[in-house]
Amino acid sequence: MTIKTPQKAILTLAACTVLAATALAPAANAAERDDEVTFSKHVAPILQRSCENCHRAGGGAPMALVSYEEVRPWARSIRNRTEAREMPPWFIDKNIGIQRYKNDPSLSDAEIATIAAWVDAGAPRGNPADLPAPIEWPADGWTYGTPDLIVPSPEGTVEADAADWFGEWGHTPSGLTEDRYVKAIEVKEIRLHEEETEVDDDGRAALGLFVVHHAVLTAEPPEDPGGPADCGAQTFCGERDNEFTLVHELGQNPTVYPDEVGVLLPAGSVITFNSMHLHSIGREVRARLDVGFTLHPPEYEPKYKLGSTSLRRATHYDYEFDVPSNDDHVMRDGFHRLEQQTKMLTFEPHLHSSGKRMCFEALYPNNAREMLSCADYDHNWAKVYVFEDDVAPLLPAGTVIRVMSWYNNSDTNRNVVDPRNWKGWGNRSIDDMMSGITRMVPMTQEQFDEEVAARGGTFAFGTSQDQQ
Ligand code: HEC
Repeated sequence: MTIKTPQKAILTLAACTVLAATALAPAANAAERDDEVTFSKHVAPILQRSCENCHRAGGGAPMALVSYEEVRPWARSIRNRTEAREMPPWFIDKNIGIQRYKNDPSLSDAEIATIAAWVDAGAPRGNPADLPAPIEWPADGWTYGTPDLIVPSPEGTVEADAADWFGEWGHTPSGLTEDRYVKAIEVKEIRLHEEETEVDDDGRAALGLFVVHHAVLTAEPPEDPGGPADCGAQTFCGERDNEFTLVHELGQNPTVYPDEVGVLLPAGSVITFNSMHLHSIGREVRARLDVGFTLHPPEYEPKYKLGSTSLRRATHYDYEFDVPSNDDHVMRDGFHRLEQQTKMLTFEPHLHSSGKRMCFEALYPNNAREMLSCADYDHNWAKVYVFEDDVAPLLPAGTVIRVMSWYNNSDTNRNVVDPRNWKGWGNRSIDDMMSGITRMVPMTQEQFDEEVAARGGTFAFGTSQDQQ
């Protein structure tokens, strides 16, 4: 592991790029029956919405899925991956709990059926005049628009075959000259150099997409770039209210904050890359993280401050954690009591390689209980699910959040290196853990009552409000 001094932060303060569409010259050259499912008319719009942000030049996926010529050879594989709901990587259970999340790219049953019907019909092109206008994506593989502020981390080298590495990557000045609030944040792992080696990477290969397993990012004053004394190698530091902190995880999507919630990036702050966890993937990789901030305008004033980032008391960070070998259905749970009325903004399951599913359940003080969210888990893609503003759970003081997680430590889980191994709690990717990460907003009783009233007087939403 070697560390190099960071590049300077790039401060563009450009307006967020709108995904502008450009016109496409029609070229009608194929007669088609009205009921024929074609690429141009039916499939291309689905791929644009749910696949192109990764499957395009610089988007991170192995192949582009934009033009008919690019898509056609993959037709059968696309059918398989979409039917298995492996693509796009987004694993919310469609039958349980809240169904409305920001920037949800997942496919409906009807869309999956459309793709399958198209493949069965021989993947016809159809009339190019039917194609939707192409999407003009932000440069450099960003998906949430071109960030206003890009802060690169120092660089590090991860050996082809080595023990997991934990430590600090140092910090990079943000370059901000005034206090600003963060609207959204997207983090990209940038591969600077990859070296093919002779290392036998069986078992690691399945976790081969990213070398940075996680990085805890915080904004610190320049005179104290190491962060708070207790931050060190802790997995979750930066629990101070209001100021920017993020647990970046492998395969994570952008975190978008509600407009009413202020996440402060103070003037002159440095972004620290503390508590890094890197894992080898069978190739030597030199990499850094680019942190892209989309900022609110300078005059922005938040209504709420961002609070805690973890359901600390419901996580399993203890040596009683126990996942037997060759077992595909292990369940663990934990409980976290909220002392203050709270709005929950995100649902972010964090398990390790044998993880298969996580759910959050609310046990309300009036003894009612309600499943908030359930999602499957793939350790290449630690997703953050951001609730739509009007269904973000409102949780009265005294609510207990029950975090449940399931593990598949058997050979049917391709992320498990050797299912003969028992797994206990541990920080390495081959160990396991249970961490229900979330972002929450503590509220006064008055604010809480106001929001409950705005939702028609009830805080439990069950199937009544969230399914419309
Ligand atoms: C968040 C990024 C992302 C999105 C969104 C995404 N993909 Fe992928 N896709 C990947 C990556 C990375 C891989 C390679 C790793 C793997 O195979 O899982 C991949 C692999 C695939 C493969 C397998 C390729 C092979 O080698 O057989 C197919 C097919 C595929 N994607 C189709 C889709 C389709 C169709 C969509 C949209 C409905 C989609 N993907 C959305 C990132 C993405």
